[in-house]
Amino acid sequence: MTRPPQLRPRPRLLLAAALLCCSTAWAHGDVTPQVVDTTGLPKLGADWKGENPYRGHAAAIKIGASAYNQNCARCHGLEAISGGIAPDLRKLDNECVTLKVDTRKKACVAEIDQYYASSVRKGKVRNGAVYMPGFEGILNQEATWAIKSYLETRRERPL
Ligand code: HEC
Repeated sequence: MTRPPQLRPRPRLLLAAALLCCSTAWAHGDVTPQVVDTTGLPKLGADWKGENPYRGHAAAIKIGASAYNQNCARCHGLEAISGGIAPDLRKLDNECVTLKVDTRKKACVAEIDQYYASSVRKGKVRNGAVYMPGFEGILNQEATWAIKSYLETRRERPL
């Protein structure tokens, strides 16, 4: 899907990411992607939802926080505060904040949800360089949306 304009990659950051995170940190055993136990969350089935089905769901937020720490924090930063090597995920929904009409705001958030899910599933690979590994087959749909629910509690600009 098309990437919203404010999410365009910044080449120098990406170079840093490729050099720092992917070649060194990723190779260490202690940063192997972790399977996430989503027992207790409503089952979502095989088809991917068009938007986060767990928004505001307390149990999902809790599981998502731990899943984020195990799988994403090493690049995107503890508590989603980026140190600069990967995008700051607290800003993911920022472009939706200023929309005044409620239906448009909802549509904007849903679009970012889709961009989020596809980024996590497929990872970020360009010209043969892996900027972020894909999590398809490691994180199930439940875990992926639980992490988004956690990230929504960390928004830079709450909706
Ligand atoms: C090895 C480091 C690494 C790990 C681990 C990682 N990411 Fe990323 N991620 C990146 C980099 C670097 C980018 C920017 C890539 C680009 O723009 O092409 C990125 C981009 C993204 C984007 C798109 C953000 C935007 O503003 O366009 C999302 C969403 C995302 N990551 C979510 C996650 C989640 C959720 C996890 C954990 C399940 C995760 N990432 C794990 C490095 C990582």
